Amino acid sequence: MQFSRMEKLGFGVLMTAWVVWGSNKIGNVLVHADEPETMGYQVAVADSGAAEQAAAPVEEKSVMELLASADPKRGEKVFKRCSACHSTEAGAKHKIGPNLWNVVGRGKAKAEGYNFSNALAGMDGTWGFAELDKFIENPKGYAPGNKMTFRGIAKNADRAALIVYMATLADTPVPLPE
Ligand code: HEC
Repeated sequence: MQFSRMEKLGFGVLMTAWVVWGSNKIGNVLVHADEPETMGYQVAVADSGAAEQAAAPVEEKSVMELLASADPKRGEKVFKRCSACHSTEAGAKHKIGPNLWNVVGRGKAKAEGYNFSNALAGMDGTWGFAELDKFIENPKGYAPGNKMTFRGIAKNADRAALIVYMATLADTPVPLPE
């Protein structure tokens, strides 16, 4: 088949227009591909109560809210996950980790005679309830590079019980926050 120069030119223009339009379309598709998650969620909320319940995560009470009603006896059980590495009696020897007598309210990395990592030794402040909560939830995230090889405790109620128990390991227990 033979095309005249004008035909070739017209064809070229058409092709270019088509490619530009096409890539625009594809671009839209790619961009829009990210959206359904939020959209689906919003629609579910607007549509029906049941869908809303399924979509919204169940809100756990925060550890700080749970402290007041937390049971130290339960915390003592949770502490079994820590006791391989931590002693709890006054004056007891450090294990892999430091002795935790009097730890609540104590300066971070201040257990006497224990060789802390630079990561923990370089931290300011004291182990208050809120700090312990964050550290125990995610030790690596709270103090990157520290040498406590423990994944953390995800459940708020478990951390609350644990921290209330730890507060009892003291000459003069620090009062729970209001
Ligand atoms: C596998 C051993 C191991 C386990 C299990 C473990 N720890 Fe530790 N922990 C350590 C080590 C090691 C350090 C010192 C970290 C450093 O110096 O970087 C530490 C440090 C700490 C500190 C800081 C003490 C201070 O004086 O600054 C606290 C608080 C603590 N651990 C609490 C806990 C609790 C609570 C649990 C259980 C939920 C637990 N740890 C489980 C090994 C462990």
